[in-house]
Amino acid sequence: MDQPQRIRRPRLVETKTLPNPTEYVIALNGKFAEWAYDEERAKEHRGAWRKTYGKSPADPLDLEIGTGNGYFFAHRASSAADRSLIGMEVKYKPLIQSIRRARNAGATNARIVRYDASCLEDIFADEELNHVFIHHPDPWPRQRDWKHRLIQPEFLKILWGLMRPGSFINFKTDSEDYYDWALPIFEASQFQKLRATRDLHKSAWATENFITHFESLFLQKGQPIFYCRYEKSATGR
Ligand SMILES: C[S@@+](CC[C@H](N)C(=O)[O-])C[C@H]1O[C@@H](n2cnc3c(N)ncnc32)[C@H](O)[C@@H]1O
Repeated sequence: MDQPQRIRRPRLVETKTLPNPTEYVIALNGKFAEWAYDEERAKEHRGAWRKTYGKSPADPLDLEIGTGNGYFFAHRASSAADRSLIGMEVKYKPLIQSIRRARNAGATNARIVRYDASCLEDIFADEELNHVFIHHPDPWPRQRDWKHRLIQPEFLKILWGLMRPGSFINFKTDSEDYYDWALPIFEASQFQKLRATRDLHKSAWATENFITHFESLFLQKGQPIFYCRYEKSATGR
C-alpha cells in the first residue's frame, strides 16, 4: 500500500477557510505552529514525520486519536520520552490544550495535528506509525449514526497498513454498546488480541492504566471501562 488506496475527504471545514478564527485557531498556525499542524501543513509531512522530531527512520512514533483536553497526551509524551508522539484532534480548543499541556510538562517529543481520523492515510504513509491509542472515541449511540464510529473494518485495514509490525492499538471505551460493536471488528481484522476486559479497573491492567478525563467522568458514576489491545505481530501477519 505505497499510495493511499482510497482518499475519503475529511468531514472538516478547512482551517484556512474559517471566517472568524478563534484564539485557538489563531494559536494553531501562530504561537504553536512549530508543534501543531492544520490539515494543509499536516499533509506535507506524510511519510516524513520523524524528521519533524529530528528522529531517525527506526525510532518509534506513536499516535493518539482524539486527544480531548490532553491529559493522556501530555502524560504519555513525558513518560515515554524516548518515543515520539503525534496527537490528532478535530476540535481547536482541545487541540491547543493538549499541545500546551504537553509543552508545559516539558515534553519535546509531542506534535499535534488537526485532522479527521477517518482519513489517516492522507497524512501517514505505509508503516510510518508504531502504537496507536484510541481512548473513549465518540460512541455515536444511535443506530443511524453507527456509520460514523471510528472502528470499522476499512479503518482497521488502513491502520494495519500504516502501522509497523510489533505495534499495538490500545482501545478504551465507556460504552458497552460500542465495545460490543468494536470487538468483532477487531477479531475479524488481521490484528491479534493481546488484552480484552469488560472492566479495566478490576483487571490486571488497572495499575498501569492512565485515567483519561472522560474515563474519570464514567468512573465517578461507578461505570466500568471496556478495554482491549490488539497487535500487528512482529512478523506482520
Ligand atoms: C469523548 S472525547 C475523549 C477524549 C480523550 N481521549 C479522553 O479519553 O478524555 C473524543 C475526542 O475525539 C475527538 N474526535 C472525534 N472524532 C474525531 C475524528 N474523526 N478525528 C479526530 N478526533 C476526533 C473529539 O473532538 C474529542 O475531543
